Amino acid sequence: MATGLENTNYGIEKIFADAEDFLPLNGTDHLELYVSNAKQAAHYYKTAFGFQSLAYSGLETGNKDYESYVVVQDKIRLVLTSPLKAGTPVGKHIDDHGDGVKVVALWVDDAEYSFNETVKRGAKPYLKPETKTDDHGEVKISGIHTYGETVHLFIERKNYQGVFLPGFKKWETTYNPLPIGLKFVDHMVGNVGWGEMNQWVEFYAKVMGFTQLISFDDKDISTDYTALMSKVMSNGNGRIKFPINEPAEGKKKSQVEEYLDFYAGAGIQHIAVATDNIIETVTAMYERGVEFLKVPATYYETVLDRVGEIDEDLEPLKELGILIDRDDEGYLLQIFTKPIEPRPTMFFEIIQRKGAQSFGKGNFKALFEAIEREQEVRGTL
Ligand SMILES: [Fe+2]
Repeated sequence: MATGLENTNYGIEKIFADAEDFLPLNGTDHLELYVSNAKQAAHYYKTAFGFQSLAYSGLETGNKDYESYVVVQDKIRLVLTSPLKAGTPVGKHIDDHGDGVKVVALWVDDAEYSFNETVKRGAKPYLKPETKTDDHGEVKISGIHTYGETVHLFIERKNYQGVFLPGFKKWETTYNPLPIGLKFVDHMVGNVGWGEMNQWVEFYAKVMGFTQLISFDDKDISTDYTALMSKVMSNGNGRIKFPINEPAEGKKKSQVEEYLDFYAGAGIQHIAVATDNIIETVTAMYERGVEFLKVPATYYETVLDRVGEIDEDLEPLKELGILIDRDDEGYLLQIFTKPIEPRPTMFFEIIQRKGAQSFGKGNFKALFEAIEREQEVRGTL
């Protein structure tokens, strides 16, 4: 099956001059989630999010410790991994954090160079460069630690023709719900602890050569009750964007604090995935049972005064609860799911950009108030 990912991609343009960019990144290779039941999680991502079966690793492939299912939609690959026995690091991770993103794997042309350059600049090694081979070629992999227990893997797959990675076989299924138009990872947001945002901003600048695009302080992102601060880091070609949040002092507990409590530390807060038609995508997700955060209907009474003219009819946006924001370059449409695991931790954002390169600042207040209403119900505000 075509995954939408070619194995090499040289000559990507640098668009942010400030990025030192010694580390060429072609895009997000895959995200690995440690989950308590990978088999059922894979079914959920197929059913609710329109992912397709891609690859499998487990007892049948000689993997005695873990079972992994890989699902794909356009350029997005999710690996869902569960332990097959007690006492594993993956089991410990799930016990500590609940289901969550362990690995943000980045697609590079040279995994050894990526490891050496980042470690030289202060990254803590996670996986020394190693080569994995099978009948379909070889993949070089290395890795470094980032915030919390999250890690980055560098994946070099230019000499590999297999379905995913060595150790995986093609996963063929008779149950194959249609895709819903999710295309690629637009950005991934990390929540870090009190006062730790700048340390991680510096990590992405110094260790990974990223540049800071935007900064929000607690005056931008606060309601009557809760506050947070955020800075957005990007690599030079803009394909990898990592906003980083830290909690700020508010009258009540912020959503970032709630996350940190339940995740037991820093980690990935949300994965934003892009679509070319958010109305169709979100309609399909509703039909498939995904729950979204809702802003009050009054949001739509004034939104066009704020954002001006848009191509879409307002009515379906209002019905679905899709939010709108505008910046100097255009506008964007976005919506956020509720957390998708028992703990109120990780969620997804669906985003359609129509020129805008920002992150929906104009929606923060309405969105935060919607989250606070959920927190109120959970008793965690
Ligand atoms: Fe986002």
